Amino acid sequence: MLPSADQNEILRRRTFAIISHPDAGKTTLTEKLLLYGGAIHVAGAVKSNKIRKTATSDWMEIEKQRGISVATSVMGFDYSGYHINILDTPGHQDFAEDTFRTLTAVDSAIVVIDSAKGVETQTRRLMEVCRMRKTPVMVFINKMDREGKDPFDLMDEVERELQIKVTPMSWANGQGLKFESVFALNQRPKDVSGKLAEDLEMVDGVYPEFDKEAYLRGELAPVFFGSAYKTIGVQELLDFLVANAPSPLAVGAEERVVEPMEDKFTAFCFKIHANMDPNHRSCIAFFKICSGKFLRNTYYYHVRKDQQMRFAAPTCFMAQKKETVDEAFAGDVVGLPDTGNFKIGDTLTSGEKLHFKGLPSFSPEMFKYIDNADPMKQKQLDKGVNQLMDEGVAQLFVSQLNGRKIIGTVGQLQFEVIQYRLEHEYQAKCKWQPLQMYKACWIESDDDAELDMFKKRKAQYMATDKEGRDVFMADSAYVLNMAQQDYKHIQFHFTSEF
Ligand code: G4P
Repeated sequence: MLPSADQNEILRRRTFAIISHPDAGKTTLTEKLLLYGGAIHVAGAVKSNKIRKTATSDWMEIEKQRGISVATSVMGFDYSGYHINILDTPGHQDFAEDTFRTLTAVDSAIVVIDSAKGVETQTRRLMEVCRMRKTPVMVFINKMDREGKDPFDLMDEVERELQIKVTPMSWANGQGLKFESVFALNQRPKDVSGKLAEDLEMVDGVYPEFDKEAYLRGELAPVFFGSAYKTIGVQELLDFLVANAPSPLAVGAEERVVEPMEDKFTAFCFKIHANMDPNHRSCIAFFKICSGKFLRNTYYYHVRKDQQMRFAAPTCFMAQKKETVDEAFAGDVVGLPDTGNFKIGDTLTSGEKLHFKGLPSFSPEMFKYIDNADPMKQKQLDKGVNQLMDEGVAQLFVSQLNGRKIIGTVGQLQFEVIQYRLEHEYQAKCKWQPLQMYKACWIESDDDAELDMFKKRKAQYMATDKEGRDVFMADSAYVLNMAQQDYKHIQFHFTSEF
């Protein structure tokens, strides 16, 4: 076990992500949290991962903005004796996979919802990941200063759409033009009358008391109302968060469960941020520390490479500044400058051979064959594709029928990013051939005979992922449904971890 001073450091850490559909107010809320932490002093300072709407079709512009956002990938600051790490997630849905992976590195999440729009698609998808991982979530219903949906209807919608029990912790006094303030329900004003009195009676009658254990199990979401823009209801959220959100949690590795207070250091890589400048082909590999303490210039064991490595210039992220750190603790994220040693999912330890679980791949939404367009540069192409996949830019499948390579992405932009980077960083040229595909499903079964039969009969649909697992590439919902009906002993998974 770590010395108690180090344990206290870990206990005061709160590492979380803010997730939402674009435009719900994530950037504004993040900025207000930073203002409370004294980490920034003026509104508008957070450039963040927010990708401006005007730039959505111009991915170079997006990359430039993502470049700026390295500094805001993690925003660390102190508040009221706690150390907060906010992990930023890209707003653009074509980079949703980045967001999924970032969620594997947090101990809790805040879901921001626009009071006029209610629960939107991106929120629903991100919440699926939280549910899968049983991540504790708090809900912030934003933009109460605008005419929006009725608060009780919003509570119902959140419960139904996000499939989680809800209980309000704060309540809004008015809404839209009449919106004045919010108050914590356990500090409600005396002598209220009119609609507010009726509302509060209803709140008391309908919702359960906050049950911290249920929240920590990911079964109950405390709900807050407010306006990030007007800085109303934000402090209630933040105070509740530091008091109730979990400090770093135990993390499951294939070999055993790793506890944050162990004195041995462990960490896993959940994100790699490439430098887009071809003259500086360095990356930053982001590691979430799972246990112990990280020290600069100390040798750690890179499990996959079976090699000791030390880092002279690790960075941590305080507010918007990237700074070299001498030490960091479980719960923190360190950025390690890298020139191709790391890939997503890599583990660093004090010597133990550990492999962390929980970095699933999700079925991509779009698929294309990737072909070599310059016969002299086959090697460069292979190397580039492999490295980009290790970085997590997209997913690679190899058809079992004809050995052709298939790239799967969440959105069109990723194909453009890959093509550009292959040309500029690897001097390789690729061509795309469209592929009509519905979903990639990882398959497994206890019934080997049925599995073999399936693979034989569906040979033209079978592919192998980069870990060597069998993947069924269904070209339509119909084909998938039929397969599910005909092969009752085969499970079809839409994530690579099950
Ligand atoms: P995002 O990161 O989730 O995409 O959302 P962001 O914070 O950028 O907010 C999206 C828009 O909603 C911004 O307006 C922002 O000012 C506004 N907004 C955020 N919170 C509130 C709120 O509580 N009340 C109201 N009325 N508006 C809010 P914009 O016009 O797109 O940008 P800007 O010109 O204000 O920066």
